[in-house]
Amino acid sequence: QLDQKLAGHQVLITAGPTREPLDPVRYLTNRSSGKMGYAIAEAAQKMGADVVLVSGPTNLDCPDQISCIRVETAEEMLKAVSAEASKSTIFISAAAVADYRLKEVATKKMKKQGSSLHLELEQNPDILATTSKANPDLFTVGFAAETNDVIEYAMGKLKRKQLNMIVANQVGGGKGFDKDSNQVDILTDGGDHISLPETSKQQLAFDILDVVCQFYSKDQSNKS
Ligand code: C5P
Repeated sequence: QLDQKLAGHQVLITAGPTREPLDPVRYLTNRSSGKMGYAIAEAAQKMGADVVLVSGPTNLDCPDQISCIRVETAEEMLKAVSAEASKSTIFISAAAVADYRLKEVATKKMKKQGSSLHLELEQNPDILATTSKANPDLFTVGFAAETNDVIEYAMGKLKRKQLNMIVANQVGGGKGFDKDSNQVDILTDGGDHISLPETSKQQLAFDILDVVCQFYSKDQSNKS
């Protein structure tokens, strides 16, 4: 029996990629497997939380005793997250949201048209930043997957998106995406820096949630 540190919490988690359609048969997406977000969802449930998992398309099954909402696009993900955020105490954003979507999605299958094709993209909403700003009491945790200058970029995102905590990890060169293990550094809005050792995504999920619990309590006692 695990320590039920998250009993009484609703933990909202996003996971997986988003899928942005070009036409009825094609889409833009990325290499996110969803493994880290799903591992966090399972770990949070085992630590006593009510878990809502908003997931983009993945090959993973919805874990037992978790409420799963399946979405495709970033806009659908934002809608689902916005509906759940005010009922939640902790939001962990592990999804690899597509930064851009097609400006105009073709209603019919696009035809070949010469040697080059130009697609016009427009920016997707930032789900994490929007949710954090709209719900100041929500404890928000972001992820920053970077190929270089990991800590520096993560610090920028922590501030820009007004987060309580960011989990930074190196990707590329065989690390991060679609792997079963991971190594992360956690930065907090109070200036703390915690380096967690490389381990399976399952174990890392518990380790990350332990740090979340520790700083959630600190955050609450600072507020009162
Ligand atoms: O800016 P970047 O995409 O690197 O930020 C990563 C963090 O922001 C992740 O926690 C990711 O889930 C979240 N994000 C989001 N909506 C976006 C882009 C990123 O929620 N449109």
